[in-house]
Amino acid sequence: MGGAFLRYNEGDMLRFSTAGESHGEALTALVSGLPAGVTVDLEFVNRELWRRQQGYGRGGRMKIETDKAHVLSGVRHGKTIGAPIAIELVNRDWKNWEEKLPVEAGDPAKHQAVASPRPGHADLAGALKYNFPDARYILERASARETTSRVAAGAFCKLLLAELGIEVLSHVTRVGRVELERAATWDEIKAVAAKEDVMLSCVDAETEARMKAEVEETSRTGDTIGGVFEVVVHGLPAGVGTHVNWDERLDGLLAQAVVSIQAVKGVEIGRGVLGSESFGSKVHDPIYYGEAKADKPTRFERHQNNAGGLEGGITNGEDVVVRGFLKPISTLRRPLESVRFDTREATAASYERSDICVVPAAGVVAEAMVAYVIAQQVLVKFGGDSVLELKRNYEGYLEQIRRF
Ligand SMILES: Cc1cc2nc3c(=O)[nH]c(=O)nc-3n(C[C@H](O)[C@H](O)[C@H](O)COP(=O)(O)O)c2cc1C
Repeated sequence: MGGAFLRYNEGDMLRFSTAGESHGEALTALVSGLPAGVTVDLEFVNRELWRRQQGYGRGGRMKIETDKAHVLSGVRHGKTIGAPIAIELVNRDWKNWEEKLPVEAGDPAKHQAVASPRPGHADLAGALKYNFPDARYILERASARETTSRVAAGAFCKLLLAELGIEVLSHVTRVGRVELERAATWDEIKAVAAKEDVMLSCVDAETEARMKAEVEETSRTGDTIGGVFEVVVHGLPAGVGTHVNWDERLDGLLAQAVVSIQAVKGVEIGRGVLGSESFGSKVHDPIYYGEAKADKPTRFERHQNNAGGLEGGITNGEDVVVRGFLKPISTLRRPLESVRFDTREATAASYERSDICVVPAAGVVAEAMVAYVIAQQVLVKFGGDSVLELKRNYEGYLEQIRRF
């Protein structure tokens, strides 16, 4: 657990941890701190896992694995019981790796070393740090296969948030040089997330077609490509997070959670990056006092949302918007220069079946991470050992800001 989270009593906090290697027998996620009484829809959890596996530009691995959550504990008769939730996610590819990556010593002749580190991956830094003769054990854990566990844990956080009418979804705003040049509405984002034939998760069909062409061109040249996803939290009231301590600010917690995703190298809250090139008068979102609305507890409102729903590290009642910037995937079919671990000779970097573009999938992973941070902060503010207690506290607060 990162230092930023230690301020709270860890034993009471919603938290999750993951274990598992990319080609090991299974991945796991352990989620604890969820209140009792959350309705668990396993079909929803499995659909989240499926969404992580989609997108144009994924490698062969996605065809082998169809991830399914095997819940071992913490859920009974379709509801959480307040106890830790252990989830197993079997790697179907394990049968091909049992001898290459055994738990016991096995036959060294059958092990599969990664002879030359890939620039951009964790291979070299990790091998040096852990004193491994090759990068196999490093990439096995650095690999974004680990994000399967994150999505499983995040799905449970989403189920908690759903009890309060809060939703978290994502869409893609850029693939390589192709950018969505307009804002997306919540309904458009919902429609993209509901699709059965996921392409690049862009809300605009014409832009998505150009994104697809960008991936195709990249693939033809043996290269890889990055991009930008946007996560939106809908239905969250003003007042979650706080300005009072640097390590409790919600913007900082969200940034840490999103940048921890493999290949994410930058995070933007609202239109923060664009705002840095503009004027205060153009950037800040004027405040109005409008009509009462069924889905908003306060009549204070904005007609634009450049702040991304966060001011002073506190939600302001607008949608929370977080963007993640992905570097291109580092495993290249036409590899960059590298050096052999054993002989120190110059050679091409290792190549193992790999993705070309993962922006839509990274968006789904980021939804899980954002849902986790939001669920954690919602529980910090409203608390409760059962959903009944949480809802009572939550409704009481909504009534307070309604009357403000
Ligand atoms: C959903 C997803 C899938 C990924 N798939 C691959 C892949 O197939 N090949 C690869 O080299 N990197 C892949 N990555 C990125 C690497 O895991 C990442 O670059 C590596 O672990 C080094 O970490 P860093 O880029 O954060 O520094 C993927 C990332 C995500 C989010």
